[in-house]
Amino acid sequence: MPGFVGATPRRTSWAVWLAAIVCAVLAIAVIITGIAVFAIYIIYQPKTPYIKVAYAQLSKLVYGHSGLLEIEMVLHLVAENDNKKAHASFSDVSCLLRFHRIDVAELRADTFDVAKNSSLELDYLFQSSSIPLDQAAMETMDVALKQGVVSFDLSGHARTRWRVGVFLSVKFWTYLSCELRFFWSNGSAVNLDCSSKSH
Ligand SMILES: *[C@@H]1O[C@H](CO)[C@@H](O)[C@H](O)[C@H]1NC(C)=O
Ligand SMILES: *[C@@H]1O[C@H](CO)[C@@H](O)[C@H](O)[C@H]1NC(C)=O
Repeated sequence: MPGFVGATPRRTSWAVWLAAIVCAVLAIAVIITGIAVFAIYIIYQPKTPYIKVAYAQLSKLVYGHSGLLEIEMVLHLVAENDNKKAHASFSDVSCLLRFHRIDVAELRADTFDVAKNSSLELDYLFQSSSIPLDQAAMETMDVALKQGVVSFDLSGHARTRWRVGVFLSVKFWTYLSCELRFFWSNGSAVNLDCSSKSH
């Protein structure tokens, strides 16, 4: 009986069919998700918002042989949102200014929004108290003043959040880490290039 011979394989083939259908449904779901993500990407072209330093000026530097350093620095940060169709919000913005691994001044900003395809300028004044430098930092400062260029390290971060489409909200940390160098004579920045944009 040919039917009898086929009976056992037929039971197996039901399981195979079921598995095939499940796989096909999953595959279609994956493809649809992929197309949706791709379409959102093409339509919205999401770009990570970032912060950069647009202007920096060392407006005051007092340093005596007692090893105490006091500075004042004007910093214009720009929060950039290159997304053409999405607002971005920046939160937990904080920057730390250091001289030779010694904390000099810290800055925190409130949460703010940047409209789509736009940027926001934030003007800050870093003011330090009298910071005692250690031996290594004092030597570095002596050399810097002799050469006429003083450098500080600026590190910072911000949490950015923006909406892609109606349902997808993207969150990213963006990090800033750069060396700010200033002419001691007039306090203007040397070759300022400081941005948290990932290249
Ligand atoms: C985005 O801004 C640039 C200049 O700031 C402008 O040329 C461009 O048309 C704007 N695009 C949109 C979609 O608003
Ligand atoms: C500051 O001084 C340096 C050299 O001492 C000079 O090259 C630079 O142009 C000056 N900047 C301004 C704004 O005067």
